[in-house]
Amino acid sequence: MAADRTTLLILGASGDLTSRLLLPGIATLLRAQPRRSLEIVGADLRDLGQDEWRNRVQTAMAAAHGDGDAGELGATAQHVVDTTRYVAGDATDPTSLQALLESVDCDRLVIYFALPPHVSRMVCEALAEVGAPDGAILAIEKPFGSSLDDARELNALVQRIVPEDQIFRIDHFLGLYTVLNLLGMRFANRILAPLWDRDSIAKVEILYDETVALEGRAGYYDTAGALRDMIQSHLLQVLALVAIEPPASIDARDLRDAIGQVLRAARVVDATTDARRARYTAGTIGDREVPDYVAEEGVDAKRGTETLAEVTVHVDNQRWAGVPFVLRSGKAMGHIRKQAVIHFREPAHVPRGFGGRNSADRLVLDFRPDSFAIHLTTNGKGDPFTLEQSVLRGELGGGQLEPYGEVLASILDGDPRLAVRADAAEECWRIVEPVLRAWKRDEVPLAEYRAGGVGPRGWRSNGAATD
Ligand code: BG6
Repeated sequence: MAADRTTLLILGASGDLTSRLLLPGIATLLRAQPRRSLEIVGADLRDLGQDEWRNRVQTAMAAAHGDGDAGELGATAQHVVDTTRYVAGDATDPTSLQALLESVDCDRLVIYFALPPHVSRMVCEALAEVGAPDGAILAIEKPFGSSLDDARELNALVQRIVPEDQIFRIDHFLGLYTVLNLLGMRFANRILAPLWDRDSIAKVEILYDETVALEGRAGYYDTAGALRDMIQSHLLQVLALVAIEPPASIDARDLRDAIGQVLRAARVVDATTDARRARYTAGTIGDREVPDYVAEEGVDAKRGTETLAEVTVHVDNQRWAGVPFVLRSGKAMGHIRKQAVIHFREPAHVPRGFGGRNSADRLVLDFRPDSFAIHLTTNGKGDPFTLEQSVLRGELGGGQLEPYGEVLASILDGDPRLAVRADAAEECWRIVEPVLRAWKRDEVPLAEYRAGGVGPRGWRSNGAATD
């Protein structure tokens, strides 16, 4: 069978993304699904050397298999370690790329671009020149391009190399169980579906506050910033799944048509008032001292890169007119907050005579760990005539794969549901582009917040305290 001999060719194999996310993702996938047959070829400009590469692959496999001993790996993981090899070379050069492709002998090739967008583009130019092997899948890491024009050009370029159904634009958030669960929660039960619109929902927040800071990624992050790195690349996809119309089926075409449709209706109404940006200064997170963002190695203060971005998006359609979707993500925050919060409207009327606080109900969907909580106003436990909120909690997911493992499984299976289609990639750029322009023209101040704090002074975001 063709799929039996699949090779994953990782371009950018010596980079941080490959070690931190990709190899561990593959390892958990092979642990959960040991019947897969896979070989891995790592390639990069930097000559890592065979031993160091094999070591990295082996370490990732051993970590996922719960021991440090290669002898105890499952047969598939062991096969991957034994057969993997590393090729040093310049994949942006057509001649070296051709030699690299010819050196791979398999039935099915997945070329994984673990590269910055401008390098991915150069490799695609070379690939357009030499041609991709029949049936090859191109898996391209985010961000897909660096602007709307760039994404359009990149789309046109990759679609010249292989058809759209062989292009997997990676967004590992589409492999998060909570995100996937939006489909079941919204479309497969009778409780939430009738409430899922502007009549019942007052506001949606999609938040991804991280305690991690730059982590040595200045080379990439300082040219991206929080808006591109998180909101354009990930949170808008989450918004799409919160907001889509019921698809006819959850096959790739129906699902991605629905995503494309809702993203086309989304926009930032006023880029100067509906988006905010900030950058962290030195502070302490737990027992970790974090320096000023601008003092980090590789950061150019003049770029004015934001490490915290918040954008309010409106979805101009019948279901969502007037409902703000607040998307926010920040680095070096004092607390992790990775969740979508659906704020329901207050009831039209509550009978007189109740004491306590009649807070609006909300559904909180936690991305990590995958779970949900419904905060529901009920009679108080002590005094039945005093209202309070009860919390109903549930777990989501419970699968064995990390999001990268899920996404990799879908790539190896040729199932594009967990990948971003060309039109959606462009729409996400189109939505943030007015904000990027306003920020470039300095029409919005770059606020500051203390690392380890709760955000810039004066920012109020739904109960979140401010410095
Ligand atoms: C990546 C971003 O795509 O997603 C990182 O580049 C971010 O900056 C990360 O930290 C968040 O995802 P996860 O899965 O690590 O929580």
